[in-house]
Amino acid sequence: MTDVNQLEHFFDEGLIEGVLRPIKSGKEASVHLCRANPRTTGEQLVALKTYHPLDRRDFRDESMYRDGEWIKERRVRVALEKKTRFGREVQGMIWVDREWETLRALWAGGARVPRPIERTGDAILMSYVGDDALAAPQLRSYKVEDAQEAEALVEQVLREIERMLFLDIVHADLSPYNLLIWQGLVTVIDLPQAVDPRKNRHARAFLERDVERICEWGSAHEVHRPAGRLAADLWTGWELADLVPEELRGLQM
Ligand SMILES: Nc1ncnc2c1ncn2[C@@H]1O[C@H](COP(=O)(O)OP(=O)(O)O)[C@@H](O)[C@H]1O
Ligand SMILES: [Mg+2]
Repeated sequence: MTDVNQLEHFFDEGLIEGVLRPIKSGKEASVHLCRANPRTTGEQLVALKTYHPLDRRDFRDESMYRDGEWIKERRVRVALEKKTRFGREVQGMIWVDREWETLRALWAGGARVPRPIERTGDAILMSYVGDDALAAPQLRSYKVEDAQEAEALVEQVLREIERMLFLDIVHADLSPYNLLIWQGLVTVIDLPQAVDPRKNRHARAFLERDVERICEWGSAHEVHRPAGRLAADLWTGWELADLVPEELRGLQM
């Protein structure tokens, strides 16, 4: 699936020393486990996410995710609207760019995401979640011991959603597919569609959907949380945080 050209840069830069095996191939990208050069990456193993060539990618209707963003160059704007070949190319680049920038902002803000290491126009190298034998399972295929463990996981995910929101990021495709579980800890992945709630008018609806999906997983594991109220409270908290100066926060109650 992955084109050798997509790997070349990472070899040339001395970041990876070998491709060990595919972790997963999806509709838009493939992820491979690679042997890292520890001196350049600080890691033994890394994950390389390579996006499929543009004509093979299954683009969702992504205009909703770009809402509120102004593209300066008219040529680019028109191409995107008309979905020309050039427009699709731009769209592909925007997609990878968004994932990279979001990973960086979240990592810098202390959120539980893979550490972004390096990127090209169609691939992202990041820290790997798992060990030699096994990549971290997605939440959807993770076997919880009991309701108590399920509850702890739901709480962790809700806290990550809140942390992301306070960094002005809504995942917008959070589901048991895009959460990895390793040693009791959650890692949030797959962020090309993430939106900025300060700009995007659909952000609140995306947040509600993200919260609902994790609450649905909870319900199936005997953990019942009121998704609608949780999402509403998160949103209000975030809106108020923007109004109240940082020094006064916490004194409001
Ligand atoms: N950093 C990582 N460490 C371990 N596994 C990963 C990592 N990133 C992705 N994966 C695996 O690859 C799958 C696909 O990655 P994802 O970013 O969700 O792309 P997409 O769903 O668009 O194909 C994930 O569900 C996960 O199983
Ligand atoms: Mg995914």
